[in-house]
Parts: sequence; structure tokens; C-alpha cells
Amino acid sequence: MKDLTFVGMTGSLRRASRNKGLLRCCASRLPEGVRMEIADIAALPFYNEDLEKPRAVHELVAQVTAADALVLACPEYNYSMAPALKNALDWLSREPDLAPLSGKPACLLGAGGGMGTARSQYHMRQICVYLNLRPLNRPEFFSNAFSPSFNADGDLIDEGLARQVSTLMRALADWTRLLKQA
Ligand SMILES: Cc1cc2nc3c(=O)[nH]c(=O)nc-3n(C[C@H](O)[C@H](O)[C@H](O)COP(=O)(O)O)c2cc1C
Repeated sequence: MKDLTFVGMTGSLRRASRNKGLLRCCASRLPEGVRMEIADIAALPFYNEDLEKPRAVHELVAQVTAADALVLACPEYNYSMAPALKNALDWLSREPDLAPLSGKPACLLGAGGGMGTARSQYHMRQICVYLNLRPLNRPEFFSNAFSPSFNADGDLIDEGLARQVSTLMRALADWTRLLKQA
């Protein structure tokens, strides 16, 4: 079986982000035959059609195009998704035929307030419709960013949640391989 590459992205840019911590946990809990890169979207300018495509966009397009699946960590800002992640998807969506995204499997997860980023993730699912991303339905993963499950550096230190991350990564690998057969 061919090895798979996942690419992770999150809308929180801060150093000690728990959503970045979730992505690091994903990268450390992959099933055999899967590798994962975490895309740095901090250097992307806000989408502006007047700009010549910036180098950071070229790099992101290449990285996402080469990926077999996406891992989207979705912080929740004001009951919706964080703008940095939407902006990255907006840039990617300007490629002809949505090429980096269309048909690509994805999974969602997040760390946030009381609802664990549920509202942000459901807005993301709506956006996946137009982008023709293929989000995994289950398992879902919601976590409380303000609990002792995370340390001061944003690392996930709760073993129960980390096991859920492992299950999610296995499910994404299975979903990706299933779609490749179709
Ligand atoms: C502008 C802003 C709006 C926010 N709105 C929400 C919200 O609507 N719901 C929620 O659960 N958390 C909200 N939060 C809290 C974030 O979910 C919280 O900062 C979370 O830790 C972000 O993840 P991070 O640790 O990866 O930065 C908001 C934070 C910011 C900065």
C-alpha cells in the first residue's frame, strides 16, 4: 500500500496555540504508512486579487496539492471559524478547478471554549461543500482549550483525548484509502 501524506493547518497563529498542539498530537499519533506535515499559514497576506501570487501561497499550493488528505484544526472565533484558516482556503480555492482541494479527504478537530469548536467545525463543513473537500463524518473531535488537558505550551497532555486523536488519524487514513479506490 502506498504511503499517505497528511497536511495539517490551523487558524490559530499564536505560539502556544492549543490547536497547534492538537496538530502536533496528530503528527505523533499516525498509523503506519502515514506521514504528516504542518503547514505554516502565518505568512499568507489577506486574499487580494491585486497581489501577484505571493511566494507563501505558491508554497502552500504545492504542499496541499501533494497531500493525500488534510487535517484542519478549527479554533472558534465569535461562533465561527478563525479568519487565518478561511484565508488559507480562500487562496487555495483560487487555483484553477479548485485543484489543490477538490475531492481531497479531510478531518476536522479543534480546541476552544464551552462547545469545543463545534460551531466553527460546522461552519467549516459548510465551506467544504463548495470546495469539494470530503470531510470525514465520524469520529468528531471537540476539546476544551481552557482545561488541564493542555499545558502552557499548548501540548495536549490528556491521554484519553490523545487516544481519540489516534482513532481520528486511523479513520482519516482508512477514509483516504477508501476514496482512492473509488
Ligand atoms: C477573537 C476571538 C473570538 C473568540 N470566540 C470564541 C467563540 O466564539 N467560541 C469559543 O469557543 N471560543 C472563542 N474564542 C476562544 C478561542 O477558542 C480560544 O482562544 C482558543 O484557545 C483558541 O485556540 P488556540 O489556543 O489554538 O489559540 C475566541 C478567541 C478569540 C481571540
